Amino acid sequence: MAPQKPTTENSTTDQRLEALRQRERAAEEGGGAARREKQHKAGKLSARERIELLLDPDTFEELDKLVLHRCDEFGMEKQRLPGDGIVSGYGRIDGRPAYVFAQDFTVFGGSLSEANAEKICKVMDLAVKNGAPVIGLNDSGGARIQEGVQSLKGYADVFLRNTLASGVIPQISAIMGPCAGGAVYSPAITDFIFMTADTSYMFVTGPDVIKTVTHEEVTKEELGGARTHNTTSGVAHFMAADDQECLAMIRELLSFLPGNNVDDPPRRPTSDPADRAEERLNRMVPADPMQPYDMRELFRLVVDDAYFFEVQEHYACNLVVGFARLAGQPVGIIANQPSVLAGVLDINASDKGARFVRFCDCFNIPLITFEDVPGFLPGTQQEFGGIIRHGAKLLYAFAEATVPKITVITRKAYGGAYCVMSSKHIRTDINYAYPTAEVAVMGPEGAVNIVYKRELAAAKDAAAERTKKTEEFRQRYANPWIAAERGWVDAVIEPKLTRPKLIAALQMLENKRDTNPPKKHGNIPL
Ligand code: HXC
Repeated sequence: MAPQKPTTENSTTDQRLEALRQRERAAEEGGGAARREKQHKAGKLSARERIELLLDPDTFEELDKLVLHRCDEFGMEKQRLPGDGIVSGYGRIDGRPAYVFAQDFTVFGGSLSEANAEKICKVMDLAVKNGAPVIGLNDSGGARIQEGVQSLKGYADVFLRNTLASGVIPQISAIMGPCAGGAVYSPAITDFIFMTADTSYMFVTGPDVIKTVTHEEVTKEELGGARTHNTTSGVAHFMAADDQECLAMIRELLSFLPGNNVDDPPRRPTSDPADRAEERLNRMVPADPMQPYDMRELFRLVVDDAYFFEVQEHYACNLVVGFARLAGQPVGIIANQPSVLAGVLDINASDKGARFVRFCDCFNIPLITFEDVPGFLPGTQQEFGGIIRHGAKLLYAFAEATVPKITVITRKAYGGAYCVMSSKHIRTDINYAYPTAEVAVMGPEGAVNIVYKRELAAAKDAAAERTKKTEEFRQRYANPWIAAERGWVDAVIEPKLTRPKLIAALQMLENKRDTNPPKKHGNIPL
């Protein structure tokens, strides 16, 4: 890394201009051609190339291009590069303002210094003041080791801003290289984490430290690769094949989001008719309550142009969450997935759902719930893991949400899961049910075993008696009629009319105003 000596003797305009160009060239050089080449060979773009692809063409305005670090230890005084390993500024995405910073791995491994943390804080402060999203492109070895506590201070400054900005502006993180130590905690506070397959890693401590401390042997990829965090830990929300796809996905996500918590999400005109009836929906839910079907296929027939942008596609697949549009208006969809674990709610699905519901509520995105849930998953693994606490998060999230809320019960709505999945009783505005809905305290089989325990024990043919009682129970209770008679289901609808019904309800709720009691903040069971 060539040292950058400031020129002091510039006196003429030309000399000043040349001094500026020199500094700008040095900033654009980053860690030099060899390191850039290494970055490209690893399948990664440079920080500047990433920003170019993320923002609309020619809209990037760079800030702090000439900032230098202030460390004089370990020979660092001879290695000062303008920009100090972060490219930051603002620009436009789909014509709307956005703030961005990108760590440059070619400069001290993208590590965070006191000076470059100040650059991140500056764009975050501007983003909050001006009500626009901030996108962080992370590619960093964590705290800059040579700086010690100054770097830690820089991280803490960023963490504080992430926390204060949470729920005010959307914060998006892309992990586009190895991110260790402090480099993972700022993304963890943001709303969505994207990771690139095979080139990105997130861990608090890497494989070497783990080997020393716990004697476990694990590769970087197994420990903190994109697949691990998208399927096992649930830390990440999206997995992209490469940098290009990752940046395009961020643009796509932002197309559903408002710039801040007081704006409404942007609408996109559609040629999909609002009154489109969809015959296929009438036959979508199987008559046999044990038979699975793909809930995604069902609601794709409902939303604009069958387009669904899924969040956490590979994690807790028994619950599907993501964004779609209805008559051009962005909505958040939360759906039980009968084709995975029969759509049961477990710890991971509860966490996933709760976080998504809260995000939508922060940013004025109406919630549409498609419900087919047999209940919470039983078992010691779930109970010991705290399903009570985790399930309560989902309940809390739906209950506190004040955005327009609409539910469609397609089949099962049993027990606690009925209450949790945006039931009428927790302030859901409109609750629809299909004629195939089964709204009851538990499934007929379980209920019969408990209610008719003595009769079954005394019966000559217990199996036949159980079948008979189960069928009776199903006929009597496993239906939408009792809930509809009490008004807890607002209408039992023909499935083919789901789209027009949802759009009519959304339009009716356009000016919905609802609030929670004044408080510092609630205490969601974390
Ligand atoms: C200064 C760093 C650095 C760091 C990497 N580099 N990490 N410089 N501080 N934290 C430099 C290297 O010296 C090297 O410089 C260049 O970046 C590229 O690093 P390589 O190791 O050659 O690259 P690679 O093999 O791809 O490995 C990347 C890596 C590894 C996995 C990130 O560098 C690594 O393990 N770094 C240390 C990670 C870490 O422990 N960070 C501190 C965490 S503590 P040259 O000149 O050779 O190009 C922390 C506390 C905050 O963050 C806590 C807040 C809650």
